Amino acid sequence: MSYHDTQQRYGVISRLIHWTMALLILAQFMALGGYINDGDHWIGNTIVPWHVDIGLLLLVLVSLRIVWMLSQRQQRPELKGQGVMALLTKGAHLLLYLCMVLMPVTGVLLMLGEGHGLAGFGIELVAESEQEMAWAIALGQWHAQISWLFVALVLGHLGAALYHHFVKHDDTLARMTTKRLGDS
Ligand code: HEM
Ligand code: HEM
Repeated sequence: MSYHDTQQRYGVISRLIHWTMALLILAQFMALGGYINDGDHWIGNTIVPWHVDIGLLLLVLVSLRIVWMLSQRQQRPELKGQGVMALLTKGAHLLLYLCMVLMPVTGVLLMLGEGHGLAGFGIELVAESEQEMAWAIALGQWHAQISWLFVALVLGHLGAALYHHFVKHDDTLARMTTKRLGDS
């Protein structure tokens, strides 16, 4: 079992971060349920109240992920496809990283800008304030806009993974999931 990535597959740490973050990000997308019945439904009442806590956790995870990704860069599986396709995949992964960073950052700016303060899992990080910060609110308002780009990217990413697995029958999905025969 390799903790590090190899040219053949992603190692345990990369896979663990990828799938943990994927699950938590899908939970964050449930905030879009605010458009249904003013958010008053099962998901709105159970998952969405954790939005800020999960978002702060994601900020920590994406920081660790970037450090880990940079340390593994030279030994990761090569992206599939040639020429333009390889460039598109690289661009899409870059945009996914950008969204993973910008979403929590704009979320934090929105909370602080509106004077709500910041608390994660019951721990107060920044106290509430009477003072609004217009610049932070202006930047924070990108939170909802960027979330649509993020949803579109994740759907495209999911489609690409399933296409490789079920149509091309290659190892793209396998190297991010199960152990293949002959791997160490
Ligand atoms: C990767 C992390 C995050 C994702 C994917 C995410 C996603 C979303 C989505 C999809 C919405 C609904 C947008 C809409 O109604 O059109 C939303 C709203 C919101 N999120 Fe996040 N979020 C994340 C992190 C955070 C964090 C860390 C905070 C605060 C510290 C936060 C605070 C808010 C607030 C206050 C709203 C409601 C205001 C608004 O819609 O502009 N989010 N988020
Ligand atoms: C929900 C949020 C998701 C995000 C933000 C995300 C992001 C990423 C990123 C940035 C990579 C490049 C490797 C890395 O740096 O970690 C990657 C790889 C990969 N992801 Fe996701 N992912 C998500 C969900 C999914 C889902 C739902 C699937 C499929 C069912 C999936 C399948 C894969 C596969 C197969 C790879 C390896 C691609 C390759 O080796 O060419 N991902 N993902």
